[in-house]
Amino acid sequence: MNQLINFDENNKVFHLHNDQISYLLAVEDGNTLAHVYFGKTIKQYHGQLRYPRVDRGFSGNLPGSLDRTFSRDSLPKEYSTAGEMDYHTPAAVVRQKDGSNALFLTYQDYKIVAGKPDLAGLPHSFVENNDEAETLIVNLLDEKSKVEFELAYTIYRDRPVITRSVKVVNKGEETVNIEKVASMQIDFVDRNFESITLPGAHAHERRVERSEINQGIHVYSSHRGTSSHQMNPFMALVDKDTTEFSGDAYGFAFVYSGNHKFEVEKDQFAQTHVNIGIDDFNFSWELTPNSSFQTPEVLMTYSAQGLNKMSQAFHTLIHDRVIRSKYKDRVRPILVNNWEATYFNFDEEKLKPIVDDAKEMGIEMFVLDDGWFGHRDDDNSSLGDWSVFEKKFPHGLDHFADYVHEQGLKFGLWFEPEMISMDSNLYQEHPDYLMHVPGRTPSPSRNQYVLDLGRKEVRDNIFEQMNKILESGKIDYIKWDMNRHLSDIYEADLPAARQGETYHRYVLGLYDLLERLVNSYPDLLIEGCSGGGGRFDAGMAYYNPQIWASDDSDAIDRLSIQYGTSLAYPQSMMTSHVSVSPNEQNGRITPLKTRGIVAMWGDLGYELDLTKMSKEDRQAVKEQVAEYKKIREVTQYGTFYRLKSAQTSNQCAWETVSKDKTEAVLSVVKVMASAQPYLTKTKMVGLAPEKHYEDQNTHEVYGGDELMNLGIYDPVEHGDFKAYIYHFKAID
Ligand code: DGJ
Repeated sequence: MNQLINFDENNKVFHLHNDQISYLLAVEDGNTLAHVYFGKTIKQYHGQLRYPRVDRGFSGNLPGSLDRTFSRDSLPKEYSTAGEMDYHTPAAVVRQKDGSNALFLTYQDYKIVAGKPDLAGLPHSFVENNDEAETLIVNLLDEKSKVEFELAYTIYRDRPVITRSVKVVNKGEETVNIEKVASMQIDFVDRNFESITLPGAHAHERRVERSEINQGIHVYSSHRGTSSHQMNPFMALVDKDTTEFSGDAYGFAFVYSGNHKFEVEKDQFAQTHVNIGIDDFNFSWELTPNSSFQTPEVLMTYSAQGLNKMSQAFHTLIHDRVIRSKYKDRVRPILVNNWEATYFNFDEEKLKPIVDDAKEMGIEMFVLDDGWFGHRDDDNSSLGDWSVFEKKFPHGLDHFADYVHEQGLKFGLWFEPEMISMDSNLYQEHPDYLMHVPGRTPSPSRNQYVLDLGRKEVRDNIFEQMNKILESGKIDYIKWDMNRHLSDIYEADLPAARQGETYHRYVLGLYDLLERLVNSYPDLLIEGCSGGGGRFDAGMAYYNPQIWASDDSDAIDRLSIQYGTSLAYPQSMMTSHVSVSPNEQNGRITPLKTRGIVAMWGDLGYELDLTKMSKEDRQAVKEQVAEYKKIREVTQYGTFYRLKSAQTSNQCAWETVSKDKTEAVLSVVKVMASAQPYLTKTKMVGLAPEKHYEDQNTHEVYGGDELMNLGIYDPVEHGDFKAYIYHFKAID
């Protein structure tokens, strides 16, 4: 096996490389760890092409040095800190015992290990055997305080991916406080980047936003306690002319579900400085002697062939090496969820006909959503009381679960484990479990409150309650929801000086609870949710192989939401449902066919009262379900391409191709109709040019090169919001 990481002792250069990428870092003057290069693989590296020495006014020099041409402020670095001569926004800030934030990191030593060490307590990418990756750990030390930063870099053998994280170890004798600690920094020279980010709102997640990076600091962050609808923890840096199919694209995805901060600074020399990590807003971490702090990790990808290639690298990495669930390679069950069908207004007798209809239509799972527990008839009560609401299920939950199973469907159940209602037994018994600042009235949101999840006692209580429901063995799936963001930040178990740890301890508590659940119930399919896609991140993927993409189920809005989501996350991770028309969220009227086609690009489900559908629509759903069963292996696990975007055109086109190129699915959605439409074509990609492909519906045969070069004329049809789907199979 070729080595993936080399150290050139003469030039003091580390080279992480595989057939696709190279990443270079060097030890420079003053034992400064410098960034040299990240991009296409370099096979003949001699280590001579280094950052030039230039005397820069107002960028100072190494302590005790007379050399005015070397500055830690201008040099591209691997990790900048506050308190050294570097005016970039720092990757780390440490408050020393003397009150200063002085921290001058110098290179000490390194080690290279086979594979990839685990990140205790945190989600992370992994290896299945040690040959598939190597990890470089570089130690930087602040000599005075003996605070050490261990920078970890993993390169995979067959992926254009580097992962990064940092461990801070206090080897000194004084307690220090970490006020900021990024998981990575990278500096680029002579690049004129644009950033692509995924901002949004509840029911409006992950809109693609492309912005110029001008001199100054650009921040994309969340301090809502979760990764949030408002700013997904993902960013790409691209050249101005980068498209879906050409140009450089650097992608960064943070494997973390709490506060995050992506900082991009274009400095005085037009160099681009990037930090990614936990947001330093209301963050501090007390580091006593001999203790350590582990940051979450960042996944970095590089593509020389545009955004589709970048996304494909994320898709395979997250699918293969972040998601652990037994379901990761199984086709996901088609479900019906009763939320938009009934909201809180249901009981066992009302639900049974929906189950019966689902069976008849070929649907594979029934999901009982919010309102089955405590005395919950609306969203004002019962969170924290995870026992069945007898009024709705007089014979118990098991009885209903048995009914669902008898119809041949799996049974799924909704939970919101992180929350508490004031109107609940849990609050009566443990008012202190509700996160609040002593002496202040906490703020409600959806009339609910957040549990103080950093406390083990609180987690144990919730786990035991869930356990009681799950140990019946009748639950096949759970939907783990979270319907508000954090406020009134305070952890009752921590002293005043350590309250800055609360946000992160909440996330560690959440991961601990999920880990316990995953270990106790390895066969359970867990779907993540946070008021739709409010916590759609690579951290949650470690526990939840699929996540509800948005509370907005309108097919046309979903074109943008699912498009943005696909920049970083695989199709199998995205759940997508057909709901009623007019749509409940925006009132739009769309054809059932279009709703079906758009939802087929994630894990398909239905979220409407099947019993109220017309005869024709019931037949159409039956056909959709049957069609989806034929294509879902390819749509969920094939190589995915974005061909046309509804955010920038009147059409949205997506395609997936099976790994062996023998099967492909293409869909085109035309948004607005026109009285005199221009003819448009959709050209497929990624097929084998020499193969012949048969359209599974019309049985017409086309050459792979025909489909890719001539392209298919998009149908001309009256009416807005029309969609078309094609399923091709290679014939010999
Ligand atoms: C928000 C989720 O996104 C919905 O699908 C539904 O489960 C509601 N919560 C229930 O309260």
